[in-house]
Amino acid sequence: MNLKGKTVLVSGATGGMGEALAKQCAQEGCKIALFARREEQLKILCKQLAKKTSCVYKKCDVTNPKEVKNAVLFTQKKFGGIDIALLSAGVLMPNPIETINSSIITKSMQINFFGNVYFIEQLMPVMKKQHTGTIAVVSTLPDRRGIPGWGAYGASKAALSWLMESLRAEGKQKYNINFITIKPGSVETPMIEEYHRAGAISPEKAAAIIIKGIKRGKKVIQFPLSQVMMIRLGDLFPVAAYDMIPVEMQKGDGFPNPEE
Ligand SMILES: NC(=O)c1ccc[n+]([C@@H]2O[C@H](COP(=O)([O-])OP(=O)(O)OC[C@H]3O[C@@H](n4cnc5c(N)ncnc54)[C@H](OP(=O)(O)O)[C@@H]3O)[C@@H](O)[C@H]2O)c1
Repeated sequence: MNLKGKTVLVSGATGGMGEALAKQCAQEGCKIALFARREEQLKILCKQLAKKTSCVYKKCDVTNPKEVKNAVLFTQKKFGGIDIALLSAGVLMPNPIETINSSIITKSMQINFFGNVYFIEQLMPVMKKQHTGTIAVVSTLPDRRGIPGWGAYGASKAALSWLMESLRAEGKQKYNINFITIKPGSVETPMIEEYHRAGAISPEKAAAIIIKGIKRGKKVIQFPLSQVMMIRLGDLFPVAAYDMIPVEMQKGDGFPNPEE
């Protein structure tokens, strides 16, 4: 896929990966529509991108279906269509077993899962009418096996990966819409700055891999390779063997203590 001249909608555009994606899409000659909650940051980024390409922005909380609808309408109105949606908005809220509560799980689902559902719901009619389009959603690499303390996040991302998987073949065959699941390992963004993740790559590198994957027509874009191998190998472990791995090791680096 050649990205030049394409209209790209980016959610989570004030974040590490969303911002890097928006900048690299602008370099490719795309027209960009930026969305997130922090309007001032959107304004600054948009001003920067407007030096290279057409860029618009609007505040959008993805948990609010009306704001998501407005974001899609706004992009359509400004650019006449939407070729690619890069949906990167997300939050990471640890929920160790000591503090398990439904509010953390509900919030994670509202942002990480339903925030994307609302976008897909609004984008589908636009792309069906165009008979083309790409919806690329950021899930996570460990989306199959439970990790202690990360249940809320993992559940919301596993649901998202499942939804994308279930839409992919039908979306392509019936409506020529590409559904792409992006599954990053650790990326050095504000989201994980407290967790000291070993082997994390920069958001710029992550964005470059994602854009390369989209251009090549990949359906699932997962990275970095070393973490892909490790996580997918872990997926194959029998349950009994997986449960013997010490919990602290399963949680990974920098997991906050419940007292903190
Ligand atoms: N970093 C990693 O290692 C990693 C690994 C796997 C997957 N991911 C996923 O990658 C995506 C991007 O994360 P990141 O690492 O770039 O994190 P980040 O820097 O924390 O960015 C998160 C973005 O999501 C937006 N956001 C959060 N809640 C929102 C809401 N209710 N409505 C609208 N926007 C909202 C934030 O913008 P505002 O605060 O301005 O609204 C921000 O732009 C997320 O979906 C994350 O789960 C990250």
